[in-house]
Amino acid sequence: MTLPSQPALGASVSIRDVSKSYVAGRPVLRGLSLEIAAGECVALLGASGSGKSTLMRLLPGFMAADAGSGPIAIGGAPIQSDGKVVSEVRVRRAEIGCIFQQFNLVGQLDVLTNVLIGLLARVPTWRSAFRRFSDQEVEVARDALAAVGLADFADRRASTLSGGQQQRVAIARCLVQQARVILADEPIASLDPESARNVMEILARIHREHGVTVVVSLHQVAYARRYCQRVVALRNGDVVHDGRANDLSAATLRDLYGTAVDELLAAPEDFAPIP
Ligand SMILES: Nc1ncnc2c1ncn2[C@@H]1O[C@H](COP(=O)(O)OP(=O)(O)O)[C@@H](O)[C@H]1O
Ligand SMILES: [Mg+2]
Repeated sequence: MTLPSQPALGASVSIRDVSKSYVAGRPVLRGLSLEIAAGECVALLGASGSGKSTLMRLLPGFMAADAGSGPIAIGGAPIQSDGKVVSEVRVRRAEIGCIFQQFNLVGQLDVLTNVLIGLLARVPTWRSAFRRFSDQEVEVARDALAAVGLADFADRRASTLSGGQQQRVAIARCLVQQARVILADEPIASLDPESARNVMEILARIHREHGVTVVVSLHQVAYARRYCQRVVALRNGDVVHDGRANDLSAATLRDLYGTAVDELLAAPEDFAPIP
């Protein structure tokens, strides 16, 4: 068993009329709808507080939307609807790889084990507790580490890796999980520009080579434009732009974001300036 050489088919993501309030009567998302086709790479752009993480938590059913909200489905299968997460959500999540800003690895465990954890998404909980991994599975995990340029790091404790390396381990885990959708919530927000580019390039490559659907939230427009074909821009929980990344000019952004635009335009010097 090696990494699937045939492109795994990405799964679609569908959100219909979804609202979310943390405080009653003060919705953070208001009737948001979004259709993402299988195999798309979509940047979710928005200043801090615009609702990116809220949406990223709703998609895998980590939390429920408000009652009255429409369905959220991944690959056509429901995750939640009307404020209730479906009971078989764990099965659904096997197809969803999640990457977070704060490197969600188990720091005390070695890198290889952190990647192998991706396999546990596909076995029942009662079996995963005392799971031994087969030689074949270990080989798959090593291949995944090689694919993200970390072949030599398998035995290192995860906590000793740099932030960029930890994010690459998280991507390797999505690979062994054979995720059909990767949800990455500000995966580069805590990284230096070089590591950030490296992580985005690997995400983009996985998307290209495996056909995985990628939804990545970013708060810098330069990365969104460079790595994603489609940009969905949120402002105060509303979709204010949904289209080709190249159509987002600095003027459009100023229009959409007003004074909050500086945060979105900040970019490393070696990125092409935004016209
Ligand atoms: N757990 C929470 N409890 C109360 N308010 C929250 C919580 N999480 C987020 N919010 C609020 O919801 C809004 C959107 O936040 P968030 O989804 O984290 O945006 P982003 O990820 O784009 O920065 C913000 O106003 C934030 O303060
Ligand atoms: Mg956030």
